[in-house]
Amino acid sequence: MDKILIRGGKRLEGEISIGGSKNAALPLMAASLLSEGTLEIVGLPDVDDIKAMAKLLLKLGVQVEYTEPTGSNIGTCRLSSSNIKTTKAPYDIVRKMRASVLVLGPLLTRFGHARVSLPGGCAIGTRPVDLHLEALKEMGAVIQIQGGYIEAHVHGSLRGANLTFPKITVGGTENVLMAAVLAKGDTIISNAAREPEVTDLAICLKSMGAEIEGIGTNKLKVFGVRSLHGTSHKVIPDRIETGTYAIAASITGGDLVLRNVQTNNNQGLLCALSKAGVETSELDGALRVSSKREKLRGINLTTEPFPGFPTDMQAQFMALMCLANGKSQITESIFENRFMHVPELVRMGANISVSGASALVQGVAKMSAAQVMATDLRASVSLILAGLAIDGETLLNRVYHLDRGYERLEEKLAACGAEIKRVK
Ligand code: UD1
Repeated sequence: MDKILIRGGKRLEGEISIGGSKNAALPLMAASLLSEGTLEIVGLPDVDDIKAMAKLLLKLGVQVEYTEPTGSNIGTCRLSSSNIKTTKAPYDIVRKMRASVLVLGPLLTRFGHARVSLPGGCAIGTRPVDLHLEALKEMGAVIQIQGGYIEAHVHGSLRGANLTFPKITVGGTENVLMAAVLAKGDTIISNAAREPEVTDLAICLKSMGAEIEGIGTNKLKVFGVRSLHGTSHKVIPDRIETGTYAIAASITGGDLVLRNVQTNNNQGLLCALSKAGVETSELDGALRVSSKREKLRGINLTTEPFPGFPTDMQAQFMALMCLANGKSQITESIFENRFMHVPELVRMGANISVSGASALVQGVAKMSAAQVMATDLRASVSLILAGLAIDGETLLNRVYHLDRGYERLEEKLAACGAEIKRVK
């Protein structure tokens, strides 16, 4: 199994081009099931989760023409759902990637039935999909759980409904939004997630012929239409990849220019970086991040739904706080078990204590390189970030987590002066 070896302590300097957003691309790919026309998605990142979604769509009978990116960050995928063979999303694919559950809303609303394996829990929490299912039931779906599968059907078509999510859910909002665009009548989704990935999906659906109002707000109004058509849509830049490299600059006392970014999607993080003593500036669709290690200071933060500080940046920011001056309290409010990086950071010499949903980090002047491993995507990359800042050799195991969501990570970092390589 591959590992990543880092000889840390090098200041990063240079430019990194940010790829398309994984979490935006996944629901966009699922949206191709809504129409007979071809959906072209431009700017797909070359990461394993995207390949897993393409595999699932192929299994359903979607024609997938997937152009591998050639180093330009632009992968284009043409998806055509005119000849769907089955509405069953099998366990062996869904268990590897939870976002597979996003095919449920589109299949149900277009074909009247779907059988989607229930995703299990994952490393960061139980992650149920009850809110997706309750909302679909309110739209007339009959849903049962049988043999580990969500068995859903509807007599006639789904109907518009007045829905309020009791808790903000990104995937739930996306699933129900896709179901509502072809439902009979109007749907209101209150307490909808406002994440940029939801907005990107809504914009794409509109360009496929859907009628949606309130895009970007927490109240989406959808006027059901009879059918959608194909379109071409460019995925937004990945705000979590952007944030991860912003921390790479910050933690190494470096100076990076990140190209292809939308800074308005990163305000929660930028605000936290500024409080922590990191300098950021925007220039023509690019973000410059520079820092001096001795000026880094501990701050308190809580993860929140957009536009607050994203849970997907919590582990990376904690790595930064480990080497800042003073204390920092980091509270995780979205997932119940998202501190698995803590014991590994502690093995690298960090001073962190966890109490319930909060981690208290006492910054230290030096950490020490070690062999580490992590159990999820963002936790893995937080260990890479720590490794970049620490003198000596850090060896990261279980690289497959990273490959799910980061495109050519070692290459991008090495081009800016990091000593990092993949070893067998
Ligand atoms: C998405 C992102 C993930 C990010 C998360 C929160 C993708 C592919 N993944 O995940 O990277 O960390 O948003 O920003 O876009 N919940 C329920 N019942 C439900 C649905 C969710 O209780 O039916 C809970 C979850 O367990 C969690 C919280 O709601 O505690 C938020 O989850 P949600 O926003 O749905 O996350 P995902 O869409 O799975």
